[in-house]
Amino acid sequence: MAIKVAAIIGSVREGSMNLRLVEFMKERYADRLDIEAVTINNIPLFNPDIEENVPQEVVDFRNKVKGADAVLFAVPEYNYSIPGSLKNAIDWLSRGGFVLREKPAFIVGSSMGVLGSVRAQIHLREVLSNPSLSPMLLPGNEVYIGSVHEKLNENNEIIDSGTLGFLDQVVDNFVTFYNKMA
Ligand code: FNR
Repeated sequence: MAIKVAAIIGSVREGSMNLRLVEFMKERYADRLDIEAVTINNIPLFNPDIEENVPQEVVDFRNKVKGADAVLFAVPEYNYSIPGSLKNAIDWLSRGGFVLREKPAFIVGSSMGVLGSVRAQIHLREVLSNPSLSPMLLPGNEVYIGSVHEKLNENNEIIDSGTLGFLDQVVDNFVTFYNKMA
């Protein structure tokens, strides 16, 4: 049976390349991964004052993560880090049940610049290492898709063979990792 994956989209932008990348992955790896793109567009700002009465959008978001077998983060880079909206969503996941703890996870990221979100992903790994989050992150397998607008065409297909081959390998590695952890 395919692994149920909640793919957290780190961009709230309509037409996000990272969302499109996840949509491509959903099609291409459907035999092994059952990917649902989870958007964070409506998640309110984290505020400890409202933790006793958590907004419904946050309840739904946490439940999607909790109900998945695994999590995929798809991250753009904003000012050498992850977008504030993604950090905010992750802050909500660090409270109220610790739904990310020990959840198998992996990261992909893309940007239109050449570095493909490398600095954002370094920060993301640091954030996720907090004990309140601490998913079981696939080691290595760092997917930095730079100049993504030249590699993902208007039909949502990766047309760069090197990128495609690497992504195939990472997904193989994640499935092996997941099965070892299960
Ligand atoms: C960016 N972008 C960007 N890219 C990069 O490689 N390093 C960076 O520091 C930044 N900083 C940055 C700040 C802000 C405010 C914006 C709006 C953009 C470019 C960004 O990563 C690129 O547009 C991605 O394609 C955005 O991801 P989505 O929305 O297409 O998924």
